[in-house]
Amino acid sequence: MVYNGSSSSLSSRKLLVASVALLSSVVASPVNQSPLNGVYKRGIHAYGRPPPFVGDWSSPRSVRRQDEDVCETEACKSFADSIIAGRAKNYTDVDPCTDFATYTCANWWATHDFRADQSNIGVLSIMSDVNTALMRTILESPYPSNTTINSTYATGDADDLDKQNFEKMIAAYDSCMDVEAIEAAGAKPLQDILKAFDGLSSSNETSNETALDLTDKLIWVQRYGGSGLVQAAVTTDDKNPNLTTVALSSGLLGLDAKEYYSDDAAIANYTTAIVGMFDNLYGENKHETNEKLAGNIVAMEKALADALPSAAQSGNVEYYYNPTPIAEADALLPQISFSRLIKAFAPSDYTIGDVIVYTPDYFPKVSSVLSNTTSATVDAYLEWVLIQTWATRLSNNVSAPYRRLQNELQGKDPEAVAERWRTCFTDVDTNLPWIESAFFVREAFSPEAKTFGERIITDIENVFEAKLKTYEWMSDEVKDLAVQKVLNMVEKIGYPDVSPNVQDPKALADFYATLNVTDSWFENGLAYKNFSLSGSWAGLNHPTDKDRWLMTAPTVNAYFNPPANEIAFPAGIMQQPLFNLDLPEYISYGAFGAVAGHELTHAFDSSGSHYDENGAYRDWWDNATLAAFENKTQCFIKQFSEYSITTPAGEELHINGELTQGENVADTGGLSAAFTAWQKRNDAEPNQLLPGLEEYTREQLFYLSFGGVWCGKRRPAEAVRRIYSDPHSPPNVRILGTVANQRGFKKAFNCPSKEPTCELW
Ligand SMILES: *[C@@H]1O[C@H](CO)[C@@H](O)[C@H](O)[C@H]1NC(C)=O
Ligand SMILES: *[C@@H]1O[C@H](CO)[C@@H](O)[C@H](O)[C@H]1NC(C)=O
Ligand SMILES: *[C@@H]1O[C@H](CO)[C@@H](O)[C@H](O)[C@H]1NC(C)=O
Ligand SMILES: *[C@@H]1O[C@H](CO)[C@@H](O)[C@H](O)[C@H]1NC(C)=O
Ligand SMILES: *[C@@H]1O[C@H](CO)[C@@H](O)[C@H](O)[C@H]1NC(C)=O
Ligand SMILES: *[C@@H]1O[C@H](CO)[C@@H](O)[C@H](O)[C@H]1NC(C)=O
Ligand SMILES: *[C@@H]1O[C@H](CO)[C@@H](O)[C@H](O)[C@H]1NC(C)=O
Ligand SMILES: *[C@@H]1O[C@H](CO)[C@@H](O)[C@H](O)[C@H]1NC(C)=O
Ligand SMILES: *[C@@H]1O[C@H](CO)[C@@H](O)[C@H](O)[C@H]1NC(C)=O
Ligand SMILES: *[C@@H]1O[C@H](CO)[C@@H](O)[C@H](O)[C@H]1NC(C)=O
Ligand SMILES: *[C@@H]1O[C@H](CO)[C@@H](O)[C@H](O)[C@H]1NC(C)=O
Ligand SMILES: *[C@@H]1O[C@H](CO)[C@@H](O)[C@H](O)[C@H]1NC(C)=O
Ligand SMILES: [Zn+2]
Repeated sequence: MVYNGSSSSLSSRKLLVASVALLSSVVASPVNQSPLNGVYKRGIHAYGRPPPFVGDWSSPRSVRRQDEDVCETEACKSFADSIIAGRAKNYTDVDPCTDFATYTCANWWATHDFRADQSNIGVLSIMSDVNTALMRTILESPYPSNTTINSTYATGDADDLDKQNFEKMIAAYDSCMDVEAIEAAGAKPLQDILKAFDGLSSSNETSNETALDLTDKLIWVQRYGGSGLVQAAVTTDDKNPNLTTVALSSGLLGLDAKEYYSDDAAIANYTTAIVGMFDNLYGENKHETNEKLAGNIVAMEKALADALPSAAQSGNVEYYYNPTPIAEADALLPQISFSRLIKAFAPSDYTIGDVIVYTPDYFPKVSSVLSNTTSATVDAYLEWVLIQTWATRLSNNVSAPYRRLQNELQGKDPEAVAERWRTCFTDVDTNLPWIESAFFVREAFSPEAKTFGERIITDIENVFEAKLKTYEWMSDEVKDLAVQKVLNMVEKIGYPDVSPNVQDPKALADFYATLNVTDSWFENGLAYKNFSLSGSWAGLNHPTDKDRWLMTAPTVNAYFNPPANEIAFPAGIMQQPLFNLDLPEYISYGAFGAVAGHELTHAFDSSGSHYDENGAYRDWWDNATLAAFENKTQCFIKQFSEYSITTPAGEELHINGELTQGENVADTGGLSAAFTAWQKRNDAEPNQLLPGLEEYTREQLFYLSFGGVWCGKRRPAEAVRRIYSDPHSPPNVRILGTVANQRGFKKAFNCPSKEPTCELW
């Protein structure tokens, strides 16, 4: 699951690719700061906001340990100050053993507020803001002629190609920034699509030609980037990860989670949004018809939502991996021909073998929903799918009802609109990811950063390998394979250097050769869809491209991709405050190291553990080892189910321990491996303390660095949305639950109980 975008549907989340990210969405929510202010250049800038400290360092904030070596550089002072600025003012009254989130973050919470267009903020979103601001500068400046192309590739017409790539990206950005043209186009670009759909779909009574059947309509809608009812997509075959295959799963529902379909307030808001969009696109004179259609669409979607597996189930490979002969798949849902749907997109010489049915229970239920729904309602639903796919590319007043709905679900002011450049950055990030990455890494990543990142990751892998050998509950056979799995792990660091090689202007130009960018933002949207559809379906005739990245370089996130047995860390997350070559190493090990450990631990969580040392889904655990493993994961399910959030109505809503178990195991195992890895480094060469924080030991500072990553908050409605749909626990729980599971933490803070609440890796 690549979680890009804050309101991806259940279905697109599932189908994109089965990987596990650190965060559920890229919190592209930059602060309003002048572009280069806060850009990370090693050693120059402080924490991702203006350096707060202007005070008097000689004031005795805490007692210096006489015998200890304290780092007095500007970088250390500034970083220490950011820890103090986030920590509870009354931290001496807060018990770190019982509430380390408040201890570390209370003043951060008190001093940070949401922008109107934000539904969650945190230290990571501020890092993302910094990266976004840098990209904005690049996107709004002329071609950087001082730029240095890696000399390996700076041959022949590399300069020209580099400039052409840049101009393609700028054309994309500028078309998005041209609000005047977008306003002038109004509703028309989408109305044209809807009209064409309507012409194709309505039966023609004056001829004996039958109207298009449902499959034809679905093909048509999928060509336009929407997926109604069901979708077919190319994916890696989990059991044969060198091979690509076709997966079948559910299509788009307008609300992000099943749970919303039994929430009257959400349904009321949703219905209003559909009517509003229909009124804007079909005319207010059809208001009554539009209301009727909206009611029918919502009723149909309710039935579809009932048919869906739970969020926890749909992410479970044992549930979704069902290789099925195409004829049998077709028989699951007789009203739709999956074979025709696949043939419409697959290369012409592709022979359909088994397909992977991700949602085996859903399809027969869709069949009965369809037999109970008029074709007028199905058509209206498919039109609504098209509208949701394209609404955000229309003028602001036309898309207002749709935007209002998203804002309501995320607890924002219903009328909030993001600044235009933020939208346009996201558009480039989504649609020209590798050109964007090329220009980002030239400014924001260095070979030294890559080397330091590699060292942290390798240290953690070594610790993990050593720990695996000690577990008495694992059989020797499983242990050996697990160790081999760590040894085989592929690390991707910084940016793609093969598929495509973002340092090579020619490779990038070739990659995007068939994508034409014009000055029409809407037309560009169609071109991007076309480009990505044909690119992904062309993959069916090739082995899995294991060099492809699932995140762009500026992304503040990371992932583990089970069938590739790989962990990946974009340049965007290897920035301060998580990662800094100029600070004592407990800072980078406690923060970035915990991220690296988190992704590695995913290889052994309840999902990743199904994949063997080569990334193939296979049963490689004997029953006794598996039983012991499951007993341990049960502990995590129970532990995290006890945490809760407060809904906008003031009610308590518990965390879904089942849905979040993999992430919670990864947080716990990741921090624990990072701590051991750091201890080894520190034993060899003790780190310095931080100025003004001499009251803390190095071990305590390690955990303060970890806790600081997860200082953040969500609007109450957004918190609810995430409980339903996000496999990660809320940020404060990622602190509380994770440190409760650390022996190292309990020892460092001398907590009364030294036993972890739950422990696995
Ligand atoms: C710390 O201060 C906050 C207000 O800033 C207060 O809500 C909280 O109760 C205090 N905690 C303790 C343990 O005194
Ligand atoms: C290139 O020049 C721009 C504008 O003067 C500057 O902001 C940028 O940092 C320079 N880049 C490099 C790699 O020197
Ligand atoms: C230039 O490219 C080569 C080959 O991909 C790579 O080994 C090297 O690290 C690159 N240099 C820089 C400064 O990124
Ligand atoms: C119906 O079909 C006839 C004959 O093919 C065609 O001339 C006419 O335009 C069609 N009407 C509509 C509304 O599509
Ligand atoms: C109507 O259908 C018949 C038999 O399928 C066919 O022979 C005839 O040409 C069709 N008429 C039109 C106007 O398409
Ligand atoms: C998958 O591809 C890799 C790299 O090309 C190769 O080493 C491996 O043997 C292949 N695995 C299978 C099962 O074919
Ligand atoms: C529905 O919209 C109202 C008004 O904007 C908002 O207050 C409420 O929180 C929304 N409810 C849901 C569940 O989205
Ligand atoms: C068919 O629709 C009716 C009325 O909307 C509903 O009561 C019934 O449960 C539906 N049946 C099925 C099988 O969905
Ligand atoms: C949007 O605004 C334009 C003028 O700016 C106006 O012509 C159009 O009718 C408006 N559309 C809606 C749906 O309000
Ligand atoms: C892109 O533009 C070129 C030149 O106008 C044209 O030949 C080509 O067919 C276009 N490609 C696509 C995918 O539209
Ligand atoms: C392991 O457990 C499975 C499922 O419970 C069972 O079918 C199988 O026989 C067991 N294998 C052994 C060796 O006990
Ligand atoms: C399961 O774990 C609990 C502690 O969480 C332990 O007491 C129990 O013995 C374990 N059972 C098995 C069968 O391993
Ligand atoms: Zn994760």
